[in-house]
Amino acid sequence: MKIAIGNDHVATELKAHIAKYLENKGHTVVNFGTDSPERTDYPIYGERVARAVASGECDLGVLICGTGIGISLAANKVKGIRAAVCSEPYSARLTRQHNNANIIAFGARVVGQSVAEMIVDEFLNAEFEGGRHQARIDMISAIENGD
Ligand code: RB5
Repeated sequence: MKIAIGNDHVATELKAHIAKYLENKGHTVVNFGTDSPERTDYPIYGERVARAVASGECDLGVLICGTGIGISLAANKVKGIRAAVCSEPYSARLTRQHNNANIIAFGARVVGQSVAEMIVDEFLNAEFEGGRHQARIDMISAIENGD
């Protein structure tokens, strides 16, 4: 899979770890930064990753900031994006299966490397179940479209 990844300064180290982890699993990782520990602003990276996923340039996205919240809020402003903050693997699997989330977000101040690995594994290995869940996604899209 082609995975877009992005983070703010709080999560540079965890991002590097997860990017390598995903590459070792055979994924292509497109890194949208930051790669520096210097203070920056999470909306920049949330938007970059969201646009890469929404345009189809990348299949799915991973976003990391301190909590995962700010960067996911920014990503969710891009049309077609469903970015979900998950601090444990069960929700990460379910947000693919039921919500068809296309970006997973988590916090470098919340989870360690091993839990982050489990979160991305569950997210990437799960599949959207469609059916009754599709109708709910359509309702979310209708809100987004102002219908
Ligand atoms: C940066 O200090 C912090 O606010 C950011 O990483 C994130 O947690 C925001 O939601």
